[in-house]
Amino acid sequence: MLDDYLKANLASWDEAVGLHVSSQMYDVEGFKQGRCSLSDIEVSELGPSVHEGTTLLHLQCHFGLDTLSWARRGAVVTGVDFSGEGIATARGLADDVGLSARATFVQSDVLALPDVLQGSFDVVFASWGALIWLGDLERWAQVVAHFLKPGGTFYIAEFHPYAFLLADDASPESLRIGYPYFQYGRPQRFDEPGDYADPEATTKNTVTFEWNHGFAEIIDPLLRSGLRLDFLHEFPHTIVGLPFPFLEVDADGLQRVKGHHDDFPLSFSLKMTKKG
Ligand SMILES: C[S@@+](CC[C@H](N)C(=O)[O-])C[C@H]1O[C@@H](n2cnc3c(N)ncnc32)[C@H](O)[C@@H]1O
Repeated sequence: MLDDYLKANLASWDEAVGLHVSSQMYDVEGFKQGRCSLSDIEVSELGPSVHEGTTLLHLQCHFGLDTLSWARRGAVVTGVDFSGEGIATARGLADDVGLSARATFVQSDVLALPDVLQGSFDVVFASWGALIWLGDLERWAQVVAHFLKPGGTFYIAEFHPYAFLLADDASPESLRIGYPYFQYGRPQRFDEPGDYADPEATTKNTVTFEWNHGFAEIIDPLLRSGLRLDFLHEFPHTIVGLPFPFLEVDADGLQRVKGHHDDFPLSFSLKMTKKG
């Protein structure tokens, strides 16, 4: 069954890559001219750990914008994604911006990565919309620990599990729970046309399977895999990317819940160190 989920999600992501490359949201032209695609949260919280020559593994790198943004800051990067379209596009972009000498891109299911990639890294990084695609965070945590050097840093900036509980057709005046927090490993099935970066797009691969994970489900396996918690931060805002009608984009470019700017956690960040 997991393979069926993976196949459906892969078809959807392969189709999304072309839409995203030509979307305003991803602004590939701006990136080619030097724009950094990382958010202020990642730059301020992980940036101090990334120096010239830092080796960085980016899990679920999509088509490589964030991976290459870390390379522009000095890191020697490896980006991983299961989408062949994403990896091919990332390699092309690395060539276009002159970073292919310090950027490697690998096509793989993140949970199977130890079968296809050797080595260990100073930093393992993931961000924004990665975890909902993974059904097995026990295995994911083992993969994170496997690829970290002793003393290495794991960092993730991610949408908050709470953000996925609210009914996604709710108005700000009628916010209500639409999905369970405790999903017990069962995915939600969605069948939705369009795309978060281009809601008007007509897509063919509309069925996806997504898992919301509570905090214990995210953090406990990482602790058990030999990582130590440095910090966990929660924010009442997020980068643009959640397509919910009860959110609005503020002057600072961040999304918040309309009428409840400080009330709801919409994103979190987590930094951990591998013991040893
Ligand atoms: C929302 S995107 C993450 C975006 C990322 N923050 C970035 O750098 O642009 C989610 C990514 O996860 C990838 N993905 C989903 N399931 C995966 C899996 N099992 N193994 C590897 N990649 C996966 C998708 O192809 C997609 O690129």
